[in-house]
Amino acid sequence: NFNLAHFTQSAPSIRECPPEAGAEVAFAGRSNAGKSSAINTLTGNHKLARTSKTPGRTQLINFFDLSENTRLVDLPGYGYAKVPRAMKEQWQKNLSEYLHERRCLAGLVVVMDIRHPMQEFDTMVINWAVEAQMPVHLLLTKADKLKKGPAQNTLLQVKKSIKEAGVDDLVTAQTFSSLKGAGLDTLKQRLTGWLLS
Ligand code: GTP
Ligand code: MG
Repeated sequence: NFNLAHFTQSAPSIRECPPEAGAEVAFAGRSNAGKSSAINTLTGNHKLARTSKTPGRTQLINFFDLSENTRLVDLPGYGYAKVPRAMKEQWQKNLSEYLHERRCLAGLVVVMDIRHPMQEFDTMVINWAVEAQMPVHLLLTKADKLKKGPAQNTLLQVKKSIKEAGVDDLVTAQTFSSLKGAGLDTLKQRLTGWLLS
């Protein structure tokens, strides 16, 4: 039950994550892509994860427990221009490590603005996850910003590139809107599969 989500802790780095237990699903994506908003829509609690018009709002890793053994993880956004280079490089290293080493990580949601999908760093993160044999769900969010035709076209393009890369066994994709709640059932289904398996 995603509505039971509650904030439990923030960690400044992967090293300070809660102990490995149960299963978690993490949300990654560029700054301002809509990660925190997606978590709020998923949990039906619009005060749960802080959202902002200013990119780089979420600077800590935030943990939200769904039950004693399951949680959602809101990761800081990447690609934020104003963050110093050394900090960016550190974060990339951390994220790669987290994807490879965190054994309780059941799957990764990569949140992308449907108007700018599959940017360089998105592709890199997807590749790290695939390397780590981690299932990935691509959430093409802010679908309300496009008409239905162009939104479906973008989804088809993204699905095509997954197939061409030969990673369609691990990677799935859908359109989503946190504003309208569109695609919520599909997202819940995918995450439930991960958290219960
Ligand atoms: P960082 O924490 O900075 O990495 O950003 P984030 O990925 O958590 O993005 P956040 O959820 O804070 O959303 C960024 C902005 O996009 C906010 O102004 C949101 O209101 C807006 N937004 C998020 N999702 C949607 C959506 O589905 N539709 C529309 N129209 N706006 C959205
Ligand atoms: Mg955020």
